[in-house]
Formats: sequence, structure tokens, C-alpha cells
Amino acid sequence: MERTARHRIYLMCPPEHFAVEYVINPWMDTNVEVSAAKAVAQWQILHDTLAGLGHEVHTLRPEVGLPDMVFAANGAFVVDGTAYGAKFKYPQRVAEAKAHRAFYEANNWKFVEPTVVNEGEGDFAYLPEAHGGLILAGYGFRTDPSAHTEAQEALSRPVISLKLVNPAFYHLDVALASLDDSNIVYYPQAFSPSSQAVLRQLFPDAVIADETDGHAFGLNLVSDGRTVVLPAEANSLAAKIKAAGYETVQVDLSELKKGGGSVKCCVAELRP
Ligand code: ARG
Repeated sequence: MERTARHRIYLMCPPEHFAVEYVINPWMDTNVEVSAAKAVAQWQILHDTLAGLGHEVHTLRPEVGLPDMVFAANGAFVVDGTAYGAKFKYPQRVAEAKAHRAFYEANNWKFVEPTVVNEGEGDFAYLPEAHGGLILAGYGFRTDPSAHTEAQEALSRPVISLKLVNPAFYHLDVALASLDDSNIVYYPQAFSPSSQAVLRQLFPDAVIADETDGHAFGLNLVSDGRTVVLPAEANSLAAKIKAAGYETVQVDLSELKKGGGSVKCCVAELRP
């Protein structure tokens, strides 16, 4: 099957102040040595890969004291020109939301301030061609389920709530990703049995990932509909995605994995 790319607009933030100074997910360990310089070098390759695919990549200025700011996907969720802002669960990241809000306001995007905890595209995904335009939303660890209804009101698209049950997969974007405008790849065991049934009903043609793929952060990918950019270690998932007709590019983000994130976490998609 011929897969076609759609032009994308992305927002990223270089990890100049990246560190693991606190533990808010099972991947973080403050005893492990972290190099911000190495993180920046790896991040730059991801940035250049996306720009090299012809996409428009904006960057946010990193701030001292916000070591997780590189995970730009968490800053908002943007659909049809409207940014539904983030409200971080843990105090260490709360200030990041303001930097994202300033970006959207300075660039004339409509911005909706949230009233409940939600971590942006970390827990939201959008499939413009699935069932006429569908938002998938995760809850269980970070985003409050009441943010799902708030997002539906802010963005005027139906939201499907999915319950995450495995702490290693604490955000939707480490358990599920869109491959194109209508199809997804996901790791079923990250979801409750009922949410797995919902995903099976909505996406009968989904690519199914296994535990190895999940632990390699393989689901934490960015796709333009044709080329799928995913972590270097996610070889077995890359093979499955290729078998489904997509191109793959693998990038090494081993330093950022120490913060509990990979490709997708570093990239917010801005949908006009
Ligand atoms: N250390 C960050 C946190 O726990 C990692 C965020 C990863 N981002 C993501 N979109 N999954 O909040």
C-alpha cells in the first residue's frame, strides 16, 4: 500500500538544561549520570530529521530550572488551530505551561486555558480521518479524565477516553501513536481490558506492538503519514511498521530516555 506524507508543523525545545533531578515516572533515576550536551546532540539529529523530511519545525527557548522542558509534547494539544493548554500534574513541571502558552499567543493561535490536570499531547492524540476526526485521550497516571470532556468542549471533536494501567506507560504517547490520519499502532497491555476492546472496535487495522516494542519506547514515535521516526532501539517495531507499508527512520535518544521520554515526547504537532 502506498503511504503519503502530509506536511506538518512541529514545536520542539532543545534540552540545554536537561537533567534528572527528581523522579516522577518509573524510568527516572537521580543516581544515573546524565549529559545535557549529549542530549542536545541527539535531539539535534531528531530536529534535523524532521526538518529534512520537509516539515516546519519551531523551537521554544529552554529555561533554566525546567529540565523536562525538552518534552515539548506535554505543553498543549492543538487541533484545528486551537491550542488546549496543559496543566501539569507535578509541581516541578508546572511552569512549563506558561512558556507554551506564550508561544501560542505570540503566534496567533487560539488558546484555551485548562482548568484541570492534563499533559497535552502526552495524553492526547488526534486522527483527522478516523470516524470524521477523533481525539484519543489517556488517563490513569497524569491527565485527569475530566480534562477529556474539557478538551472536547475546547476542540469540538469527539474524545475517546482510554484507561492506562501500567505505570511504565504513564502517558498515552508511550503506549499508542498515530501512523497516519486514520490508523494507529499501540501496545494493548498498557490499557485496561475495556479500553483494549474500544481500540479493537475503532481501529481493526491497527499495528499491534508487544512488550519489547513498548519498553524500547517504540510507540513514542512521530509519523507524517509516510515516514515514521522512532527510537534507535525499537528495531522489532520498526520492522512491523515497515511491513505495514511505511518508511522508518530510527534516531538514538538514549540520553532522553533517562527522563522517561523519546521521539514523540520531544515533538508537539501544531495543527492549523
Ligand atoms: N520526565 C517527564 C515526565 O515524567 C517525561 C515526559 C515525557 N513526555 C511524554 N510526552 N511522554 O513528565
